[in-house]
Amino acid sequence: MPVVGHSALQQMVAGIYAAKGLAAPDASVVSRHQVEANLVGHDSHGVLLTAQYVRQIDAGEINVTAELEIEAESRGTAVFGGNWGFGYVMTEKAMAVLADKAREVGMASGVIRYQGHMGRLGGYADAAARAGLIALMTADSGRGPKAVAPFGGRTSRLGTNPICIAVPAGAYPPVVLDMATSSVAVGKLALARARGEQVAEGLILDKGGNPTTSPVDYFAGGTILPLGGAQGYKGFGLSFIVEILSGLLTGLGYGVAADGRHNDGSFIALFDVRQFRALADFRRDVDELIDYIHASPLAPGAAEVLYPGELEARTLASRREAGIPVEEATWAVLTGLAEGLGVPLPSAR
Ligand SMILES: NC(=O)c1ccc[n+]([C@@H]2O[C@H](COP(=O)([O-])OP(=O)(O)OC[C@H]3O[C@@H](n4cnc5c(N)ncnc54)[C@H](O)[C@@H]3O)[C@@H](O)[C@H]2O)c1
Repeated sequence: MPVVGHSALQQMVAGIYAAKGLAAPDASVVSRHQVEANLVGHDSHGVLLTAQYVRQIDAGEINVTAELEIEAESRGTAVFGGNWGFGYVMTEKAMAVLADKAREVGMASGVIRYQGHMGRLGGYADAAARAGLIALMTADSGRGPKAVAPFGGRTSRLGTNPICIAVPAGAYPPVVLDMATSSVAVGKLALARARGEQVAEGLILDKGGNPTTSPVDYFAGGTILPLGGAQGYKGFGLSFIVEILSGLLTGLGYGVAADGRHNDGSFIALFDVRQFRALADFRRDVDELIDYIHASPLAPGAAEVLYPGELEARTLASRREAGIPVEEATWAVLTGLAEGLGVPLPSAR
């Protein structure tokens, strides 16, 4: 598997988007978010998605010259229209507007609609937390075909509907809880299918609503169960709320849109810690809580206790150093795209 340095990989992906008409700063935002997903170990949201985004640009589904619009606002709220731009660009700009409002008012919230895929939520929330804000974000996974059944149902009615909450820490990287509310991500099923592997029990149903461990059954009309196994009503409950915040509060609606165009509805709330406590004291206390949790006596078979976001922070540190492993198939597609567009190729390590 080729291993590529993160800067070189980002430069190549940014070059592909620039060649497709995206302004250089925006190409940099999209490629940075994708490569960061690879760096933290969420390869399903990494450079793998470049080919899909290029197809969406070619099909006119992503507008590379779109500007973020503020459709309505108050001192502490905003409704953003993405004009079908890249979700990464629109969300990053919306976060900046909301961060200014949160610093002024103490807290701010907003919704974004009519934007493309916004990828991994943790990237935006982590940056806000580093700047002293607590960030809460949800996304409804677009208005294309749904993937997840409600608790007790056997057909897909919901997206994988992620929720992310990030909190500033001090010496530690921020706490970042960033999770789909489904029992498994679609990307992970695709990977298992490609590798000819089975998945664990209790994650998916086949077309007839029967439990299965075959990812092939999922892609043949099956569905994903909500997070929580026998207590899947909890994952379903979270997913239902995410759908309301990201789909209904945005005015986008629920289910599959007639045009099927990717439309990541999103809800964002930012809280300025300084309005509650001295930021340095809060950061210190979060560090101490992490130390306390780390020091837990271990369950049999467990090697350590981690806090939310810690695994990703570790993977980021090691992949920054060692480079990013890119699957052969993804590398072939990426380099093919780059060559076709006259973008220089980085050398794999
Ligand atoms: N834009 C979209 O439409 C969309 C849809 C679905 C998912 N996503 C993204 O997909 C990504 C993956 O989601 P996921 O649910 O597969 O993530 P995951 O299951 O890998 O991790 C979920 C959370 O658990 C934490 N965690 C993992 N292992 C841990 C351990 N051993 N101890 C303590 N904490 C641990 C992680 O830090 C993370 O906060 C997320 O970044 C999400 O934002 C995006």
